[in-house]
Amino acid sequence: MDRIGFIGLGVMGRPMALNLLRAGHPLTVFNRAAERAAPLAEAGASVAVSPRAVAAASRVVFVNVSDDVAVAEVLFGELGVTSALASGGIVVDMGTTSPTATREHAARLADAGIDLLDAPVSGGEAGARAGTLSIMVGGPRDAFERVLPLFQVLGQGIVHVGDSGAGQVAKACNQIVVSATLLGVAEALTFARRQGVDAGRVRAALLGGFAYSRILETHGQRMLERDFAPGFRARLHQKDLGLIGREAQALNLALPATALAAQLMNALVASGHAESDSSALVRVIEALGGPRATGEAPLSAPSCEGEGTEAA
Ligand SMILES: NC(=O)c1ccc[n+]([C@@H]2O[C@H](COP(=O)([O-])OP(=O)(O)OC[C@H]3O[C@@H](n4cnc5c(N)ncnc54)[C@H](OP(=O)(O)O)[C@@H]3O)[C@@H](O)[C@H]2O)c1
Repeated sequence: MDRIGFIGLGVMGRPMALNLLRAGHPLTVFNRAAERAAPLAEAGASVAVSPRAVAAASRVVFVNVSDDVAVAEVLFGELGVTSALASGGIVVDMGTTSPTATREHAARLADAGIDLLDAPVSGGEAGARAGTLSIMVGGPRDAFERVLPLFQVLGQGIVHVGDSGAGQVAKACNQIVVSATLLGVAEALTFARRQGVDAGRVRAALLGGFAYSRILETHGQRMLERDFAPGFRARLHQKDLGLIGREAQALNLALPATALAAQLMNALVASGHAESDSSALVRVIEALGGPRATGEAPLSAPSCEGEGTEAA
């Protein structure tokens, strides 16, 4: 059995690492803010002092950090994974990063005899806890097959999409659909309220028909309850929309619905909601409609700082 490391114990990484540990895989972990590793230490993981120390103890290293810059730092920084992971090792990037950066990272790792699998996920914190994530994988087939038993601990819908970067392309497609749907749900529930109709009953009616979606179910409920504890932070959703926009521009490809969602997500973050769940997008739609006596909180009032359960 390959020795496993896990770097990045945030909303997603922590429950994923715990699931690997509980499935009987000894684990060496690292998180930049050391206190976030405490639940893993209590569950029996070895806590390392750097990504390098994780790599020195591992053959397969999972990375689940915020963005391209963080991944590059963890992999290629002074105390990075590549300074200690031996040839034949595998790095598995489970965060959402750009296909272009992923291909660059894969080429650099290949020079050191290390395979990179890009393996972003969908299903949110709830899916990470339950081990029911969708996992979209790019990279060498033999590396995928070596890591598959570990993916099966973390998720259910596991698809090897193609070569390096293909997993991140699939995740970008996921975010294109999620963002447009999130915006549609926010508009529909706001429209219902402004019509003086019970938005909760509208949601209930729509759930049984063609407009059903997980977004309507989970994020629609969050919008009704004004529960914007993350979940999937607005700043991470903004990051995803930004990287999709850059990739589309490089292809001279127009993605108008995604561009609109990106602008509105910028507005949400700018109004102080970077750490709120991205379903708080409904606040932007409400604010565009001007002030009304509907009990809507003003856009500039962040309502949460804690961590909840639903996400992208
Ligand atoms: N939350 C979701 O529902 C969800 C769903 C699907 C995909 N994702 C993706 O999964 C990834 C992680 O998301 P999350 O929600 O778990 O985010 P999070 O709770 O904000 O955690 C981010 C993690 O990245 C680490 N990190 C950030 N910059 C770093 C750096 N320069 N060097 C080392 N570590 C760094 C953080 O360390 P510190 O603790 O030290 O800050 C933390 O461990 C993101 O790419 C996100 O887009 C999230």
